[in-house]
Amino acid sequence: MKYFIVTYGCQMNVHESEKIASILENKGYVLAEKREEADIIVFNTCAIREGAEDRVFGNVGNLKKLKKKNKNLIIVLCGCMTQKEATAQKMLRTFPFVDVVIGTFNLPKLGDYIDAVKKGRQLEIWQEGDIDETLSYKRTSGDNAWVNIMQGCNNFCTYCIVPYVRGREKSRKEENILNEIKEIIAQKKYKKITLLGQNVNSYGKDLTVPCSFAKLLKDICALEGDFKLSFMTSHPKDLTDEVIDVIASEDKIEKYIHLPAQSGNNRILQKMNRNYTREKYLTIIEKIRNKIPSCRITSDFIVGFPGETEQEFEDTYSLVKQVQFDSIFAFMYSPREGTVASKMENQISDEIKHERVNKLLNLEKEIQKETGKR
Ligand code: 5AD
Ligand code: SF4
Repeated sequence: MKYFIVTYGCQMNVHESEKIASILENKGYVLAEKREEADIIVFNTCAIREGAEDRVFGNVGNLKKLKKKNKNLIIVLCGCMTQKEATAQKMLRTFPFVDVVIGTFNLPKLGDYIDAVKKGRQLEIWQEGDIDETLSYKRTSGDNAWVNIMQGCNNFCTYCIVPYVRGREKSRKEENILNEIKEIIAQKKYKKITLLGQNVNSYGKDLTVPCSFAKLLKDICALEGDFKLSFMTSHPKDLTDEVIDVIASEDKIEKYIHLPAQSGNNRILQKMNRNYTREKYLTIIEKIRNKIPSCRITSDFIVGFPGETEQEFEDTYSLVKQVQFDSIFAFMYSPREGTVASKMENQISDEIKHERVNKLLNLEKEIQKETGKR
């Protein structure tokens, strides 16, 4: 019996697919080299932009042929896209050959759904769930071990679907994280440990015994062993001086920060509900560069947010030019149903979004040529 997992989206999903692999291997499945050979196919989906969802729809559609050839093939859809009730219902309707559709919170119960497949098709979406501490992973990222430190997001940036599909912030207990990392170190297979969370800088605020992200970093670095530590993603509003100091002083921490700015214009930042200004962002960059001159800094930007004028886009352009990031990701704004921004007036045309994203990416290329960065 063989399994095949198709993963879309961010590192969080990559890591969750490591959990899926472990659940399947514990049930006796072994990894298939290609999906055509599999007895079970799991699609771990992403909902961050429409493009991601369209890809999933297309690729799930293609599985029909495989199900025709192998009637016993089990097809499971999970992840952020299927956490949205309407999308999950639509997928079940559109794809009569899909067996199981579950949301993000029910993933730990995947084994039970597979057991119940003989009884019929299943759709179940839990609205909430505790952090899963079963911690059984089939690590697949070479010498890097992902470690989840929290789930969810409380920020509600107005464009973002994440808080709706991953729920409110919940941090894992520091002790549990440290124990997991000790085990990873003891295995001697991993040179790098990457902490994962939607907003790692607010780690620990929700714990009964609060713990700061800076303390967590220090306590991890105090563990004996030869490893490099990194983390993602940071939110500029929560990146404290203390965290910058810890990155500067701890040899084990990689000198790298991914710090999404999203826009360089204050009106747009406010409409995005980002809770910082261009000036504040630039101050943080300055602090990082002063304290950690060798630090690589990367960022994310969204162009074509509702109402973004040419001048406001120019502010983003000038921010990218000014900061000279080591690299950037530039995305065209994609309206997500249910978010505040999707209902805003003055949605920008695809044509203008394309134009702006290309301008930003061309600038990035120029900067890289000049600085030899990347
Ligand atoms: N449209 C376009 N890009 C988005 N991102 C998040 N939501 C959207 C959206 N609705 C981008 C942000 C974030 C990255 C992971 O994806 O830049 O930092
Ligand atoms: Fe989305 Fe904003 Fe949370 Fe990031 S911080 S996951 S962009 S709501």
